[in-house]
Amino acid sequence: MKVTAKLTKIVICILMIFCLTSCNKRDQAVSVPADNKYITVGFSQVGAESDWRRANTESMKSALSRENGFELIYMDGQQKQTKQIMSVRTFIQQGVDFIVLAPVREDGFSTALQEAKAAGIPVIIVDRMVETENSPFTCFVGSDFRLEGVKVVEWLHAYAEAEGIDEGTLNIVNVQGTVGSSAQLGRGDGLLYGVEKYNWNLLDQQVGDYTQTKGKEVMEAFLNTYPELNVVYCENDNMAFGVIEAIEESGRKVGTDIKSGDILVLSFDGVSETAKNLVKEGKIACIGECNPHHGPRVSAIITSLIENRNVEKLSYVDESVFAFSDIVKKINADGQVYDIVNLGEQKAPEQTSENE
Ligand code: AHR
Repeated sequence: MKVTAKLTKIVICILMIFCLTSCNKRDQAVSVPADNKYITVGFSQVGAESDWRRANTESMKSALSRENGFELIYMDGQQKQTKQIMSVRTFIQQGVDFIVLAPVREDGFSTALQEAKAAGIPVIIVDRMVETENSPFTCFVGSDFRLEGVKVVEWLHAYAEAEGIDEGTLNIVNVQGTVGSSAQLGRGDGLLYGVEKYNWNLLDQQVGDYTQTKGKEVMEAFLNTYPELNVVYCENDNMAFGVIEAIEESGRKVGTDIKSGDILVLSFDGVSETAKNLVKEGKIACIGECNPHHGPRVSAIITSLIENRNVEKLSYVDESVFAFSDIVKKINADGQVYDIVNLGEQKAPEQTSENE
């Protein structure tokens, strides 16, 4: 009896050691069977809540196409984390070569990611991040959302200075994106940094979930509660469209002349022509660009992993700042200087007379 128990223990130990070492190996080296016609990629997208998201989906689908050697399995999470977790588990069952996850929020994905790791499937996190503790992933490519927020905040400060606006009179409301998403957390942090640094009044923050309809609802409530508000920090363009509708329907004016009673709107993304035209008109004063074109980046990462080349764990994309005028030409955000892209009316160069 004793001998049988000992033998069983030894066999279990050998099996455990085998499993651990093979899992580790799978964690580092990526191999796609040579007879695979296509590299299969399961992509769990957040949803279709905004113009940014639609541009991002388009970028992913066209880069990870059959012509480019990929078989893309696309799943729309409809802004629900439970759906995204189900998608990850489905991809694991299907035995895809890679999982790409654009997570709706940062927390809550650790179990699913551990399951992917145990199955030996590399996971690329795209656009937003997941919390890093206990959430294994191969690498991330996306935006530095806090930096986006800090850039917009620094633009507002520079604009107030240039226009001689007393910053103590800035009464700000924040229309937030989906709570717990990196975009909401980062841009929200950026705003709080500005509020503290420049002594602005933050009247309220409410969730608009990145959609036009909810952005409008939130703004209607703000307008009823805070007649003194004069700046809206809006965490994406689609919500800004709803915000502008609500302000105009209320009889107040959207614009950049805060001293004369305008409500100044700040936003993020800068992807759609509608948003860019609103900047031209001064209805959105400044947009912190958020770049959605991650498809080619993800396909390059996959190629590097297959070829066993080194891949950065975290890569952040370069992004600009768009504004309605050139009154602010440069800003300094987190110690780095950024040029402001003027989308407003370009002034014709001054004529010089021949006699001069
Ligand atoms: O994660 C990127 C954000 O999500 C974009 O700003 C927003 O428009 C989208 O829905």
